[in-house]
Amino acid sequence: MATPVRGNPPRRDPLADVAAETLGAIRGRGTHRRMRVLEGAQGPRMVVDGREVLLFAGSNYLDLAHHPEVVEAAARAARDHGTAAGGSRLITGNLALHEALEDELAGFLGCEAALVFNTGYMANVGVIPALAGRGDAVISDELNHASIIDGCRLAQADTLVFPHNDLDALADRLAQAERSHRRVLLAVDGVYSMDGDVAPLADMIGLARQHGAMVLLDDAHGTGTLGEEGRGSGELCGVLREVDVHMGTLGKSLGSFGAFVAGSGALRELLVNVARSFIFSCALAPPAIEAARASLRVMTREPWRREQLQARAERLRHGLAERGISTQPSTTHIVPVVLGDNARAMRICEALLDKGFFAQGIRHPSVPEGTARLRITPMASHGEAEIDALIDALADLVSDPSPTAS
Ligand SMILES: Cc1ncc(COP(=O)(O)O)c(C=O)c1O
Repeated sequence: MATPVRGNPPRRDPLADVAAETLGAIRGRGTHRRMRVLEGAQGPRMVVDGREVLLFAGSNYLDLAHHPEVVEAAARAARDHGTAAGGSRLITGNLALHEALEDELAGFLGCEAALVFNTGYMANVGVIPALAGRGDAVISDELNHASIIDGCRLAQADTLVFPHNDLDALADRLAQAERSHRRVLLAVDGVYSMDGDVAPLADMIGLARQHGAMVLLDDAHGTGTLGEEGRGSGELCGVLREVDVHMGTLGKSLGSFGAFVAGSGALRELLVNVARSFIFSCALAPPAIEAARASLRVMTREPWRREQLQARAERLRHGLAERGISTQPSTTHIVPVVLGDNARAMRICEALLDKGFFAQGIRHPSVPEGTARLRITPMASHGEAEIDALIDALADLVSDPSPTAS
């Protein structure tokens, strides 16, 4: 029999212990994070931690999140349909608005059907386990977004990772998976979110076809910003029709919130029946749906937005290169300046804020150890003079061996 405890046992606080232990380790690695506070409407100029700055850190690339037509569509949706969908899609939340947006997204990408998810993260963790399970293989680029990595973990399929954009290694993994697995899924980002390079999709999809693999393209950053009609990296690379599963987000260039998966009618039916992040979650609210529909219209009729976005990004990359600052391997509107050391990246980020520009410093685990960087994302509505001012400010800081914020 256990001996009874006399008096009060010392109070244990396991929550405080786990927080102290984990946060201590994070601080030790120099990767502790805090959230900045932003004020004002989303746009090229915002108040960040109390200072008005030019914003080069967001994903509202086409500046649609505060466009009058988009705002009015969201406001009208709230007035006419309320602020919530009131349930999951399979119970009371499947509004005619969701179906209309899905038809429009499918039409935009030339697919049979689309299905909206609440975020891109939820789309990836829903779709990957729906397509691959035990006995199957997912082949994944080493720099794929965390939501693909987590989707692979949930899928319980074997994940075969290949070095970034390495076609020989990809061919190797595909051949290996074809021999030893039932079904094979190739999952890649279209535009890499921390490097701004575009996957060599034509070659990758060619290889996937040779080995009978399905292809999932995560085009979170390409949708609306790349390709003649803004259909993304698949359009840019001339393989739009070859992609089995398109994933795009509504919360970045489309200025709203949510995400979608587009492909065949069978894919949509499968996801409605098995994608747990779709089934067990409340549906997107009417204002988000209607904002996305309005953005899709504005984005389609105003190609100048993506053209100007890419022109501004090109000016930024070129201007930095002239000042000896590499933005390799970017060819898009995501422009990295790799600084290497965590502390240096964060020092330059703070000093840049002091000069009136916000470009986020990015550290491990968002990027590999030793490749901390500034991730600069211009918007379509930044002026050329604003880009030039950023180049000047950054060039001064990068050439200074120990920049400090005041
Ligand atoms: C490549 C990629 N996929 C998926 C996501 C997740 O999208 P969301 O922010 O809608 O969850 C992101 C977000 O940054 C991303 O960069």
